[in-house]
Amino acid sequence: MSGRPRGALLTVEGVEGAGKTTQAARLVEALRSSGREAVLTREPGGTELGRDIRRMLLALDGEAPAPEAELLLYLADRAQHVRRLVGPAIERGAIVVADRFSDSTIAYQAHGRGLPLDAVRAIDDFARGGIAPFLTFVLDLEPEAGLVRARATGPADRLESEEIAFHRRVREGFRAIAAASPGRVVVLDASRPVDDLAREIAATALDRLEHA
Ligand SMILES: Nc1ncnc2c1ncn2[C@@H]1O[C@H](COP(=O)(O)OP(=O)(O)OP(=O)(O)O)[C@@H](O)[C@H]1O
Ligand SMILES: [Mg+2]
Repeated sequence: MSGRPRGALLTVEGVEGAGKTTQAARLVEALRSSGREAVLTREPGGTELGRDIRRMLLALDGEAPAPEAELLLYLADRAQHVRRLVGPAIERGAIVVADRFSDSTIAYQAHGRGLPLDAVRAIDDFARGGIAPFLTFVLDLEPEAGLVRARATGPADRLESEEIAFHRRVREGFRAIAAASPGRVVVLDASRPVDDLAREIAATALDRLEHA
């Protein structure tokens, strides 16, 4: 590599408990071991404002947001995140690894909640302001298995408490996104062992970045 390294956004997506946080952290370790600057972040909650929005979105008490309000809260988080953190990091040549990004909005708000796909896409485009993932890993898992895993990390939040049919629509949403963007999205069977998945994700990411 010569000159300034080129920055990029890599995203890790999937249903509740699929292993996103685990694999995003492992990917950052692998990127750093390869000598790249890597930044680990997540949505919602990658910025200070975003952490307030995250609490509003995931709290079980208080008033549940209408689907349209929920969409706009996620996108307010994203608008802040790309302008304050993701964009500047990419500009200076870092690899940003985001634990959820726009594909979650499409899967949860359009496929899960049933909001119109075109409207969700349009407003997400506005929020992202041109920042898009270079490569995305979808950790595909039966929602029931993911929810069991998620229980191991703490009490259910508002999303995890949704009915199973909602989580099934979300999973199908991720699969539809992957089918529509095979060049960007890599689907992995998230029931595989953590180390096995981490190895494949690191190898794929390093290879794609090398040949970008
Ligand atoms: N491949 C795997 N096999 C078995 N258990 C796993 C695997 N990946 C992660 N786990 C475990 O499942 C739980 C959930 O993992 P993790 O928090 O990474 O998932 P997540 O997708 O970030 O969940 P959430 O949607 O709740 O943020 C953790 O206890 C983690 O150790
Ligand atoms: Mg997580």
